[in-house]
Amino acid sequence: MEIIRSVAEMQRWSLSHRLGGRKVGLVPTMGYLHQGHLSLVQALRPACDVVVVSIFVNPIQFGPNEDFDRYPRDEARDLALLEGAGVDAAFIPTVSEMYPPGFQTHVEVEKLPQHLCGLKRPGHFRGVATVVLKLFTACIPQFAAFGAKDFQQLEVIRRMVRDLNMPIVIVEGATVREDDGLAMSSRNAMLSPDERQRATSLIRALTKARDMVQQGESDALALRQAMAQILSDAEAKVDYIAIFDPMDFSELEAVEGQAHAAIAAFIGKTRLIDNMRLK
Ligand code: PAJ
Repeated sequence: MEIIRSVAEMQRWSLSHRLGGRKVGLVPTMGYLHQGHLSLVQALRPACDVVVVSIFVNPIQFGPNEDFDRYPRDEARDLALLEGAGVDAAFIPTVSEMYPPGFQTHVEVEKLPQHLCGLKRPGHFRGVATVVLKLFTACIPQFAAFGAKDFQQLEVIRRMVRDLNMPIVIVEGATVREDDGLAMSSRNAMLSPDERQRATSLIRALTKARDMVQQGESDALALRQAMAQILSDAEAKVDYIAIFDPMDFSELEAVEGQAHAAIAAFIGKTRLIDNMRLK
């Protein structure tokens, strides 16, 4: 596996594969890898001849009081996992390689971020869209995979790719979970054993909402209240609980057509998110 740290070298590597007729796939990550990340590598396999995984904890998508400094990092561990998964290249740029002095150009998807995480984390999706575009121009992939665990992020990226005519196919990966249902996340490593137990409240609340819908409940307020109860019993501090239309992220009062539920909650200091299709 090649380990590439500069944008210029990354571009050379990718272009040489593309000139050789090979399809290049990219999985953007912030490292501290888990099976959720590796499942995205597998999702690209059928379409791609070579797969690059980028590891970059992107400072511009974190707010001033967020966990950029605490975010778990372990390059040696990540490289071993990528080798094991048969990844062809790891792109691991430094912050100054991605954002050299004078950097001042950003990408802003306008409407989708005016909901859910975008409201709670001002500037977050601007940082995500900007870094993903930069990872695209560095790695020059024909395919890129993103997880449904970060559902709003996936839709922001899809919108950006469509709006800016990027010749890249976005591949969606299903959420990979631990045995007890907790969505895999690098941030789970920051949970104490007690918090790890309480973190299952997110999936329990989402499952409860889905079960209620299957039994005929359509009132979004009733769904949100049932979810809030499960989260409060686990001493999770709710950032948001939303029942929304997955097309435009507008909040629903009643579940009739397509509907999605999403939760962001703090377990101790760690903010976790999860989502589920209700209908
Ligand atoms: P990160 O949280 O490292 O996630 C990288 C990719 O893995 C994202 O597409 C995310 O949706 C996916 N992923 C995370 N947990 C998953 C799980 N349990 N199952 C399936 N997929 C999962 O998301 C980011 O990094 C960053 O915002 C990034 C896109 C790299 C831009 O900095």
